Amino acid sequence: MAKQNIFDNETFFTGYSKLRECEVNENNLFELPTLRSLLPDLNGKRILDLGCGTGERCKDYVRHGATAVTGVDISEKMLAVAKAKNSDPNITYLEMPMEDIGSIGGEFDVAISSLALHYVEDFQGVVKNIYRLLCDGGIFIFSQEHPLTTCYSGTGDRWTRDENGNKIHANLANYCVEKRNESTWFVEGVQRYHRMFSTIVNTLVDGGFKILRIEEPYPTEEIAQKYPEYRDLFHRPDFLFVKAGK
Ligand SMILES: C[S@@+](CC[C@H](N)C(=O)[O-])C[C@H]1O[C@@H](n2cnc3c(N)ncnc32)[C@H](O)[C@@H]1O
Repeated sequence: MAKQNIFDNETFFTGYSKLRECEVNENNLFELPTLRSLLPDLNGKRILDLGCGTGERCKDYVRHGATAVTGVDISEKMLAVAKAKNSDPNITYLEMPMEDIGSIGGEFDVAISSLALHYVEDFQGVVKNIYRLLCDGGIFIFSQEHPLTTCYSGTGDRWTRDENGNKIHANLANYCVEKRNESTWFVEGVQRYHRMFSTIVNTLVDGGFKILRIEEPYPTEEIAQKYPEYRDLFHRPDFLFVKAGK
């Protein structure tokens, strides 16, 4: 199966870039703060960022003291932005699918992947390679779309609503059917791989990792007051975070 490279689709890239330019989005309100809360001290660390996108995070890791950051991404367009806006002598950007990181050399202290692994079919293979590339005591931290969202197969309403259109509960179907699902996000046919929570955790454990922390971010009362549109996350978290140690 050819690997999807949806971020190089012009329409998708434009829509996604606009979303990320808004200051108020789920990445800034929930994803980034949770990721930061899980990071170890990065001073002097060698970091591998899988699905690094436009490289803001890579630059951030250098700002926090990382001495070498390798950013890997399948998308030429995302990496073009990374190289134009977020280059640094301590950052190397590699255009390749993360499924191929078995071919890169070196050793890393921390492997990070933000919101990219649900696009990958061979999760087990990637986990195996990350384990091999990490030093003893190394840390792997990732976020992905939550399994309660990746099981959506693109048909039917994701929500049950009251007579005023308010979301009253999330609809769930086929959570236990692990497969590639397609849905519309800027363009039709965006592929995401659905894996159960147990599969994700067991793949890490079978790959030799110790689970150190799991997070499923949802709004604080303050954020829910300010941005009521994110109250949906009380019904169903959109992101899953795992921190694992070698
Ligand atoms: C939602 S973006 C996240 C970008 C960045 N990590 C961030 O949080 O700002 C997902 C990124 O994963 C990349 N990606 C998707 N599938 C990939 C694969 N198989 N190998 C490497 N990168 C991939 C996409 O090109 C995109 O840049």
